[in-house]
Amino acid sequence: MNSTYPPEYTRWWVEFYYQKFEIDEHVLIPRLETESLVREAIRYFRSEEVDTLIDIGTGSGIIPLSILSAVEIPEVFAIDLSPEALVIARKNAENQGKNIDFLESDLLSVFLNEHLGETKHALSLQGKNILIVTNLPYIKQDDWENMSTDTIHEPKLALFGGPFTGFELYEKLFAQIDVFVAKYTPKKLTILAEMWDDQTEIAWKILGKYGWEFSFFADLRGIERFMKIHIR
Ligand SMILES: C[S@@+](CC[C@H](N)C(=O)[O-])C[C@H]1O[C@@H](n2cnc3c(N)ncnc32)[C@H](O)[C@@H]1O
Repeated sequence: MNSTYPPEYTRWWVEFYYQKFEIDEHVLIPRLETESLVREAIRYFRSEEVDTLIDIGTGSGIIPLSILSAVEIPEVFAIDLSPEALVIARKNAENQGKNIDFLESDLLSVFLNEHLGETKHALSLQGKNILIVTNLPYIKQDDWENMSTDTIHEPKLALFGGPFTGFELYEKLFAQIDVFVAKYTPKKLTILAEMWDDQTEIAWKILGKYGWEFSFFADLRGIERFMKIHIR
């Protein structure tokens, strides 16, 4: 297979939502579509009271840092399973002088861990107004095998969502959310999330089981590929 090495990985930076971000081969190259998720989050911050932002699968940190370029947020957590990605995200936060609490964790596990006990994270989340933003990997095995040739240089951990639907990580997150709500009883909890444009049907099916209020919204090309879920 002839593959093109992405120029972003040789010049080590990209522009996203009017700012420059450092990147390397351990993080996804930010996609323009994700700016629609950022815009929706900024709209949300301007219309609702929010105490805490949690970004899950932060990669280079583009989502929380772009939101922070437009609004002030008392408390921001950014999670990734990849320690290498967190190094880049921390660098970007430092370059932009922004204060984010970066956590290495499998989705929300760090907040659900029994040993967390009385730590500052656990205490600070109780009863808060929380917004979760996330662009989790959502590509399934078959699609992965037929992806564009430059994508093979991006980390598989950043793209591959599971073997059958690609929606498996979102399913795991939703199961964790139930536990999170029971543990922290947030006053308000909303999730804004990016998915693949052919996943609305599976999203309907899975979200329908939880009894949460949800809708979908589109990117700038009019393609519905984001979920807005009101948990409480
Ligand atoms: C699609 S990339 C998104 C990166 C960045 N937020 C963006 O929009 O460009 C998904 C990110 O999720 C991370 N990730 C994958 N599985 C994860 C898990 N189980 N828990 C936390 N992060 C995970 C990957 O390391 C990757 O950085």
